[in-house]
Amino acid sequence: MHLEHLGIAVSDAAPLAGLIRDLLGRDVYKTEVVEREGVRTHFISAASAGGARPPKLELLEATSAESPVSRHIERRGEGMHHLAFEVGDIRAAMQKARELGIRVLADEPKAGADGKVIAFLHPRDTHGVLIELCESIRTEPEWQHINHGDGSLAVQISGPEGAPPLLVLHGALGSTELETDRLVRHWEQTFRVYALDFEAHGRSSPVAGQTLTFDRFTDNASAVLEAFDLHDVRVFGFSMGGGVALFAALRHPDRISRFAVHGVNVQWDEKEVRDMVFPMAPERMEAAAPRWAQRLADVHGADNWRDLVHRMIDFTRHLPNNPFPDELLQRITQPTLVSTGDSDRYFPLRHAFHLRETLPNARLWVIPGLDHPIQGVDAEAFSNQIANYLLSDG
Ligand code: CO
Repeated sequence: MHLEHLGIAVSDAAPLAGLIRDLLGRDVYKTEVVEREGVRTHFISAASAGGARPPKLELLEATSAESPVSRHIERRGEGMHHLAFEVGDIRAAMQKARELGIRVLADEPKAGADGKVIAFLHPRDTHGVLIELCESIRTEPEWQHINHGDGSLAVQISGPEGAPPLLVLHGALGSTELETDRLVRHWEQTFRVYALDFEAHGRSSPVAGQTLTFDRFTDNASAVLEAFDLHDVRVFGFSMGGGVALFAALRHPDRISRFAVHGVNVQWDEKEVRDMVFPMAPERMEAAAPRWAQRLADVHGADNWRDLVHRMIDFTRHLPNNPFPDELLQRITQPTLVSTGDSDRYFPLRHAFHLRETLPNARLWVIPGLDHPIQGVDAEAFSNQIANYLLSDG
């Protein structure tokens, strides 16, 4: 259970939205009409860089005189309207309320704003406080393919149109499905999410035979910004995708406003590269980790995955050539969150400290006990922390 948002009834949202902007520097990031409730909703994030998961503000404007919001304003004037609590199972929560003798204002959950189903409790039974129960529902994300070079790049798009754009970049040998989708499920409640499968990975084209480089993967990220004409973009990149995020931030200072990298390294020595490459060899992987090998075959294609692994071994072998000299990192001015596990099997903490020290505008978040694979994070806590950073302005 989580206090998801505070609903505020207003006859016209613009003056209060303007006041909040002037007072607190926060803008409405999403406006949505819920026709059957006769309401136009405007959402404002209250996230800060350090906080856990603060409730949003939902400014409610009536779209007709019969709307419950109009009636509320007539009777009580503008102001606090409801508290919305997010629950994991709204039907169970409604049943619990009924058992407690609280009237639920509908038999079934109804579609609300912000990708939720909702139900209100009768305020007479809850000491005058109108309580909304809500549960997030996921609409099927949409995959789009954009032409790129000789092939195409696959981008999974989800979340409300008009929400701030977030570009999500997976790691080497990863994919959206394999690594980032479980985080996207949370982010798509607040962002319009563009989760890219890098070329030769996941659902994107294999581009057989070509050498894969940071430059090429950064071209992939640029192609997404171009294809969807994205501006004021936030970026999240994991591992190799974090490296790409650094290059992309440098290349697009006008488009990328703020970003977060996790489990990323910018200085490799020969031993670290050997440790990364050793378990990658397909024959070794099939013998030592057959289920993982099968998963890679499922994600990248049975015909493609061995070739991809060989090319990523080649990519990894070139890493000690210092692709991220300090002079380059020092030119990245966007606010950057550097997060890492303190038990990363590949990258000792000193690498994250180096990045934190060298980037002009970075903060460091060290997660205790976490190893390199992003599958190890608590998806909800992690995605909230990242979202709060990306939405904050401090
Ligand atoms: Co609400």
